[in-house]
Amino acid sequence: MSARLRLVAAALAVVLVAVPIVFGLVDGTTGTLVGLAFSMLAVLVTGSAYAVLKLVDRHIAQAERRLRKEIRMRPKAQQPKPVKLPKGLVTVAHLKKERDFHAKRTQDIVNLFSMVPITSGIPPLGLWTASADLLVELVDRLVTERPATVVEGGSGVSTVVMALAAKEHGIPVKIVALEAQPVWAEHTRAMLARHGVAEYAEVRLAPLARTSIAEHETPWYDEGAIADLSGIGLLLVDGPPEGTGERARYPMVPLLKDKLADRCTILVDDTGRPSDADVVERWKPLLPDFDFEVLHLDKGAALLTRK
Ligand SMILES: C[S@@+](CC[C@H](N)C(=O)[O-])C[C@H]1O[C@@H](n2cnc3c(N)ncnc32)[C@H](O)[C@@H]1O
Repeated sequence: MSARLRLVAAALAVVLVAVPIVFGLVDGTTGTLVGLAFSMLAVLVTGSAYAVLKLVDRHIAQAERRLRKEIRMRPKAQQPKPVKLPKGLVTVAHLKKERDFHAKRTQDIVNLFSMVPITSGIPPLGLWTASADLLVELVDRLVTERPATVVEGGSGVSTVVMALAAKEHGIPVKIVALEAQPVWAEHTRAMLARHGVAEYAEVRLAPLARTSIAEHETPWYDEGAIADLSGIGLLLVDGPPEGTGERARYPMVPLLKDKLADRCTILVDDTGRPSDADVVERWKPLLPDFDFEVLHLDKGAALLTRK
């Protein structure tokens, strides 16, 4: 029995005894009888109320148990699965990236065309050719540093824009482009002629051949083609193509480092490719007095300078 119930029972007992006594004192036997009847009535009413409340209580407890059971049986709310986007779906982030990329590329092309007077056609920039941002960097170096000799591995648009810049800015520079493929050499010479700068750059045919570097097996430009070069103030590394073999561009530094001018800049294209980034790392011990800088250009580039 709960404490509350015990209290009510005690109060009832007091009422049961006290009421007939008090009534008896007031009106003798009749009062006692009336008091007894009143007490019985009170007990009856209280008992009935208690029974009803107990019943209601039991129903509530039953309903509560049923509810708890239902909640327990209910399947757990599932975590929302991460939404898988269908492959190839273009997201807003993609579009923003694309927009920024094209805005930058447009700006690079505008810059290039304002730096050099390109008045005839050129191949699409950035595929087999240097990207517009690299060409801007190249022309900028040529115009500001005014080297006596420029050498590049891999001829093409880069040869043409350097020749145009030399002509435009009256820079007395010797530009030599090493080219392994006869057809491509002819193509670049034709492009130079079409732009009116044939005499500003030499496309030197240098078929790929085994080098004098003992541990390097990938062929590079025939060393005979670099024998007469000296005082190179600007060197562009953009050939031979990656597909010609492992570390295709590595020989450029070991074979030309003694032909570099005291003040020299080496611009390396395609270092976004791990193999070309690795080549640049391998040059570090060979060029201890050069600063190495990463350029965040379209295809990745490195700038090596000795001041
Ligand atoms: C990366 S390309 C040199 C690009 C050059 N620096 C320029 O800016 O145009 C290296 C070599 O790839 C070869 N090459 C260039 N364009 C080519 C093409 N469309 N298809 C096949 N080979 C190509 C040429 O032999 C070139 O010397």
